[in-house]
Amino acid sequence: MAKYEIKGGNTLHGEVLISGAKNAAVAILPAAVLVAGVCRVENVPDISDVRILLNILEDMGAVITKEEPGTVLIDCTNIKCTNPNPELVRKMRASYYLMGALLGRFGEANVALPGGCNFASRPIDQHLKGFRGLGAEVEETEEYVNLKPSEDGLHGNRISLDVVSVGATVNIMLAAVLIPGQTVIENAAREPHIVDLANFLNTMGARISGAGTNTIKIRGVEALHGGTYGIIPDQIEAGTYLAAVAAAGGNVLVKNVIPKHMECITTKLQEMGAKITDYDDCIRIVSQGRLHSTTVKTHPYPGFPTDMQAQICICMALASGVSRLTESVYETRFFGYCEELQDMGADILINGKTAIVTGRESLHGAEVYARDLRAGAALIIAGLAARGTTWVHNAHYVERGYENIIQKLTNLGADIVRLED
Ligand code: EPU
Repeated sequence: MAKYEIKGGNTLHGEVLISGAKNAAVAILPAAVLVAGVCRVENVPDISDVRILLNILEDMGAVITKEEPGTVLIDCTNIKCTNPNPELVRKMRASYYLMGALLGRFGEANVALPGGCNFASRPIDQHLKGFRGLGAEVEETEEYVNLKPSEDGLHGNRISLDVVSVGATVNIMLAAVLIPGQTVIENAAREPHIVDLANFLNTMGARISGAGTNTIKIRGVEALHGGTYGIIPDQIEAGTYLAAVAAAGGNVLVKNVIPKHMECITTKLQEMGAKITDYDDCIRIVSQGRLHSTTVKTHPYPGFPTDMQAQICICMALASGVSRLTESVYETRFFGYCEELQDMGADILINGKTAIVTGRESLHGAEVYARDLRAGAALIIAGLAARGTTWVHNAHYVERGYENIIQKLTNLGADIVRLED
């Protein structure tokens, strides 16, 4: 186990280069299972979730070659395995994308239920509804999901999701790409990583249209072929650095971003008083004194992302006035970090889905525990902005999704080190 030690109070200056998007990478790497050929994937973030996925694929018989940093060649031509190693699968959440990918490639799958950040109950009923809609027989036990073709066989279909779900949209897309006929996903998620997955699959020969809208159409093809694809920059990693500058102060150029993807976050930071300037593929943030209070409600894309809830909460905790932060995707997400923030002097009152945050002039260092990835990133930001020293335990959560966070923050002038417990 490792922790971060942060001596707060330094403002942040310079440039930070954003890595490839975690949530796109963890969908695109399992998608390579559908391809009989070599997928050359660029801008792959070096984070533990990606390393686990690559281990799972290799264990299934894929040939994985790493080229220069960030470029991975994946060849799944000869894999035969439809039951990936359960111990590895349980180490992360997105391993459940192997269900869709294996169903699509082999017509069957036996995949353990996933692990990952459990900040809320995270059902997969919509994924299973999608598989059933495509003609799969689904058997779910406490530990496994077993998929095989029903008597009618696998076929394209119209599937309407009851809730907007990133995971279900991805899993149904993966399953449908090689299944005969047309599949239409209604009430689909519109996140940038859904579009990235569709672009990856289309590059390899799939026929997917409408990604980025709430209706995605997939015309099944016989086979996919190899190709080269570059993953988009990570919207949430970029948002985390922007929030860090807003909270701790400074002037930073955040490079390798798609400013359009950032609008839901930058609009709020601007409202709070930070100066934001967009360029083609970077954003400059300059802090301008104390932040002002605001109101934020999380929503699926293009709304304010739930994965930025904790980071914006730190900004609110330091702003003048009373802010309201409402979570509408995962109700229990506040519990991952609010108590820890209170230990650092924050004034937060949770009332159901809403946190009422009364800004304080400053926070103070404390010994705190990350309980999930984004909560961990937020506690680091709190430590950067606080007076004194903060120790954030459970670094492994943060390392699931942030490449080189220590190096990137140190380059910006932060005083942060990683210590083994
Ligand atoms: N839901 C259901 N049934 C389902 C699936 C989802 O009721 O079958 C509900 C969930 O309980 C939740 C809502 O639908 O209330 C949305 O969940 P979604 O399926 O969209 O979330 P996910 O696919 O499990 C992805 C990201 C999360 C991010 C959410 C929301 C990946 C690998 N994970 O999770 O990212 O919080 O979308 O945007 O893409 C993170 O990066 O830290 C992270 C947790």
